Amino acid sequence: MITTDRSGATAAMLALSGASLDELELLSGGLFAPADGYCLPSAVPINWPAPFSLKVPPQVGHEAVAQAGLLLTDPDGTPLARLDVESSHVSVDGESVYLAGPLTRLRSAEHPPVRRLRITEPLHLSDQAHSPLVVAVFSETPRPWQLAAAMTTAFQTNSQLWLVALSGPQPHGRYTVLSLLHELESAALRIDGAKVGLVVLPADPREASRRDHVLQKHVLRSLGANQVLDYTVANGMPAEVHEAANLLSPTGTVVFLTGLSGSGKSTVARALAEEIQQDTAVPLTLLDGDDVRRILSPGLGFSKADREANIQRIGWVASLVSATGGIAVCAPIAPFDATRKQVRNMAERVGGFLLVHISTPLPVCESRDRKGLYAKARRGEVKDFTGIDSPYEYPYDADLHLDTSELSIAEAVARIRSCLVDAGTLKPSPVRSASQHF
Ligand code: ADX
Repeated sequence: MITTDRSGATAAMLALSGASLDELELLSGGLFAPADGYCLPSAVPINWPAPFSLKVPPQVGHEAVAQAGLLLTDPDGTPLARLDVESSHVSVDGESVYLAGPLTRLRSAEHPPVRRLRITEPLHLSDQAHSPLVVAVFSETPRPWQLAAAMTTAFQTNSQLWLVALSGPQPHGRYTVLSLLHELESAALRIDGAKVGLVVLPADPREASRRDHVLQKHVLRSLGANQVLDYTVANGMPAEVHEAANLLSPTGTVVFLTGLSGSGKSTVARALAEEIQQDTAVPLTLLDGDDVRRILSPGLGFSKADREANIQRIGWVASLVSATGGIAVCAPIAPFDATRKQVRNMAERVGGFLLVHISTPLPVCESRDRKGLYAKARRGEVKDFTGIDSPYEYPYDADLHLDTSELSIAEAVARIRSCLVDAGTLKPSPVRSASQHF
C-alpha cells in the first residue's frame, strides 16, 4: 500500500506488532542510541548495541525502495515512524527484503499495555525540572530493602526517583506486568515525588539471553539517569541472596582477568586495585594467580583438573567478597572456557562480573619471560606450560580485550574502570587538580 505522510512525501506502509513494534519504539525514541534506524544484516555499524534489521515482504520492500521510504505503523495503521530507505537487500531465499536507513519518529504508539506509564525515550527529555535522576529497575516484586535503598539514594543525592518496571513483550490480553506496576505505583505513593514507568523490551528480562541482557543494560544506560539501581533478575541478582548479603551495597562485583603468563595480568590487577582503593571506600580483595596458588591452592599443579580446582576456589572466594558488597579482582591464567563460565555463573548469582582478557600475544609474553619459565618450557624442563604445551582457550565472551604490548598499564586500568562505571559499580573518577599529578 502507498500513502502520503505528513511531510507530503509518498511512502509504502507496513504495520508492526509485538516485539518488532516494541523494538521500533525504543529505536526511534533513542534508547538504542547511537543506533538510529535499521541496518542490513551484512553491514552492522560497529558502535551499535545490536544488529537491528527490518525484514519485509517482497512487495512492500520493492515499493519502499521505489519510494525511498516506508511508513511504519501500529496494528491499527497509525503511522509511528518513517524509515528513509537508503539500502536494501533481497534475502537468500528471495522471499523477503531487508531495508535499511534512518528512522524519524512521528508519534508515540497508543497500543497497550499501560500507555500512560510507557517510557520510550531518555527520561530527561520530558523532565522539566532538570533534576538529577535515580532509576530503580524491577522485573519482579520489589523487596522492601530495595525500595529503601532506592529512596535513600535519591534522597541523599537530591534526585528525582523513578521506579521502573522492565518487562518483555506482553501477549495480547495477558499483561503480566500489570501486577508489578500496581506494586510500584503503591510504593510510589509512599515515597514523596517518586514516579513510575514501564520499559517493554523485545525480550523478557527474566528469560533473556546474554545478547538481550547486553541490550537491557544499554537501554537502562540510555535512560539518561545519574544512577541506575538494577534489581532485575537478568542482572544476576536474586533478591534473597542480596537480603542475606548486605543491605547497603548491592554493587558487589568480580573483575576476572585472564591471559597468558607474562601478559601483564598481575600488573594491571595491582594498579586497578590501587586506584579503586584510592577513590572509593568499597572493600577490595586482590586474588592474584601466584598468591592464590601459595595460600589457597598449595599442592595443586598444572594438570587440567588441578587448574580447574584452582580457578573454582578463586571463583568461590571472589563471589563471597562480591556477595558482601565488595570488589574482587582476580588475575589467574584461567585457560579453560568452561571453568571461566562456572566462575561467571557463581559470581553473577550474587553481583556483577567483568571478564577482562589480557590479550598480549604469546611472542611478547615469551620475550618478557621474567621468571624464565617459557625458556624452561621450551627446553622441556617445565611441563604443561600454558601457550607452549598446554592450551589457552580464547575467551570469546570477554567484556574487554586489552593488549599490554599496545596499551600502557594506565590505559588498561582506565578501560576497566570505565566498564565498572558503566555497570554502576564505581562512580566516575574524581577530576584531580593539576597539582595532584606532581
Ligand atoms: S591457572 O592454572 O590457575 O590458570 P595460575 O594463574 O594459578 O594458573 O598460575 C600461573 C602461574 O604459575 C604462572 O604465572 C607461572 O608463574 C606459574 N607456572 C608454573 N608452572 C606453570 C605451568 N605449567 N603453566 C602455567 N603457569 C605455570
